[in-house]
Amino acid sequence: MRKTPRDIQKRKNAPQPLVCMTAYTVNIARILDRHADILLVGDSLGMVIYGMESTLGVTLDMMIAHGKAVMRATQRACIVVDMPYGTYEDSPAQALKSAQYVMHETGCDAVKLEGGAAMAPAIALLVQNNIPVMAHIGLLPQSVEREGGYKIKGKTEEDIQRLIADAKAVEAAGAFSVVIEGTIEGAATAITDAISIPTIGIGASPQCDGQVLVSDDFLGLTPLPRAKFVKTYADLENVIDGAAAAFATEIRARQFPSTEFLYGARK
Ligand code: KIV
Repeated sequence: MRKTPRDIQKRKNAPQPLVCMTAYTVNIARILDRHADILLVGDSLGMVIYGMESTLGVTLDMMIAHGKAVMRATQRACIVVDMPYGTYEDSPAQALKSAQYVMHETGCDAVKLEGGAAMAPAIALLVQNNIPVMAHIGLLPQSVEREGGYKIKGKTEEDIQRLIADAKAVEAAGAFSVVIEGTIEGAATAITDAISIPTIGIGASPQCDGQVLVSDDFLGLTPLPRAKFVKTYADLENVIDGAAAAFATEIRARQFPSTEFLYGARK
């Protein structure tokens, strides 16, 4: 049975942290589904799958295509689809229209959008319309260009208080969980202590109620160097490189396909 946003919300302060991974394509999603509580179809797919420089060029239709693929491939994890830049920030009504489109087309369990207090009215409207929302505060990838680069948050007491206010605002608006990205560790811990919905950290704190990483990062597929907060658990770059080299070598030596791979091979 698929986990629901309500199941995820109940995991606040649970002994076992929530496991969240990004997923974009069928074969990877099928494997990750065995291990994740939440699979996030993140707009990081702009860079990871499409080679874009940022998430800003990602469209709703791209998110929907990948959301559908991940839904088809999975049965267990709660599937959350990111709302891309330019599809929800103008007004709560715009956010609702876009989120309804994503939910209807993909059948996913929830959407995620970036922003704290400023996004609370949009989150509240989505929740009133039965669309579960995962919020995202701290370092916001969709705002990186406007802010002039990746800037770690929570470096001052004032900034920590602002982040806590953001977290409380998205909680009050009805978000079932919140991603905290790119903060000083103590800031993420303070936010986690201040709210009663689960926090999911990325470059944040082990005290968060869960952790998320971009799967291509922890699988060792994205080019080096990777961000400081990424732990690489596999070296798929070398696994794929080795397999492709072996395949190419056998073709060039006319060793593949050998008789076992042929239909009605001549004796
Ligand atoms: O788009 C994404 O992959 C994300 C995670 C990094 C949290 O938002």
